[in-house]
Amino acid sequence: MPTPTHDEAAHEIFCQNLAVKLEAGIRPQLRGLYEQHVKPDLGEQNHNPRTIAKAMRKFDRTRLWYRLRTDNQDRMYTISAEMIDGQIESLATKAKANSGKLGSLRLDPALKVPGYLSELDIHRKPGGYHTEFMADDVAAGAQYDRTITVHNMGSQGPNNDDPGLSLAAEIKRRFPKLNPRRILDLGCTIGNNTLPYADAFPDAEVHGIDCSAPCLRYAHARANALGASVHFHQMNAEQMSFAAGSFDLVISRILLHETSSAALPRIFRECSRLLSTGGVMLHSDAPQFNEMDAYRASLRDWDATCNNEPFMLTVYNLALEDMYAEADFERTRTFRGYAPSVHFQQHRTDPHATRSGGQYFFTGAIK
Ligand SMILES: C[S@@+](CC[C@H](N)C(=O)[O-])C[C@H]1O[C@@H](n2cnc3c(N)ncnc32)[C@H](O)[C@@H]1O
Repeated sequence: MPTPTHDEAAHEIFCQNLAVKLEAGIRPQLRGLYEQHVKPDLGEQNHNPRTIAKAMRKFDRTRLWYRLRTDNQDRMYTISAEMIDGQIESLATKAKANSGKLGSLRLDPALKVPGYLSELDIHRKPGGYHTEFMADDVAAGAQYDRTITVHNMGSQGPNNDDPGLSLAAEIKRRFPKLNPRRILDLGCTIGNNTLPYADAFPDAEVHGIDCSAPCLRYAHARANALGASVHFHQMNAEQMSFAAGSFDLVISRILLHETSSAALPRIFRECSRLLSTGGVMLHSDAPQFNEMDAYRASLRDWDATCNNEPFMLTVYNLALEDMYAEADFERTRTFRGYAPSVHFQQHRTDPHATRSGGQYFFTGAIK
């Protein structure tokens, strides 16, 4: 983990507090504009999140919120980039020293990063998560680790692993007979939500894949530093080199919305191919739009238009369970639900000050 100076730490705290103010203090008030003006004006068209978002953007208060949130996102990356720039070589050296004891790291320099990751600066992070600036680079991973605390407003615990902890607990509750020998996490980035599966299923071999080499180097070093054995691979989830039927549990956390309409069916087919009979596929992302009212769905407009996550407004409208059926899962063996957040149960903060509302949505299917 990169170490901040006093001023960098203070700047980060300011950025995190402003994020809480925007999310828990100001955003809930904007619903009043919708109820009083937009909803009556739009009438029947009201059901469409895009139309609602467009109408909401006409109000100065909404536009100010968009501007402040966007500036705060850029502020978050500026603080961490300045912090990491000064330590980039020592971080790479430390990462190397922490590597190679537990689990493994397999990079593939020939892997082509998909266009949906390389053609825009995802989350407004310059260079996205895959760009490398030097040999043995871990900067993108270090930056992810540093910024997710600010982004999640501290609501996912000191190791930012609350989604993994909560979903692993939910899987154990829902599938008490599942005793996975091999577990695969798709789009694992720095493995923050992969490691909880190694704890929850100590007899299983845990693997994580991602396209980003700097994040995977960091993930491997991080896992070693935390005493966890996980095997990290640089692969595209659309086409993986693992043997058919070689996993009993395939999971992902906030991967789906970063892909594309063409990639998703390929990823689901790969999940189906890799799972053994009776194995479980579970994808956790923000809730689908049919889980909420149209106004709440329209809040995703900021992510899509300002935060370089254009697929969000599409993916949350897809009939995922139908797509699972098309990928060779039985329709009757699909499921969806919410895993209660372990951190939220313990700390009971304002649900608006969590990005997930104190629970993690998931969909999936049993092979
Ligand atoms: C928002 S991050 C998710 C991080 C992590 N799972 C977590 O819970 O914090 C999405 C990750 O998915 C990776 N990703 C996106 N598309 C992918 C693909 N087709 N194959 C492998 N990884 C992919 C990105 O590189 C990025 O690291």
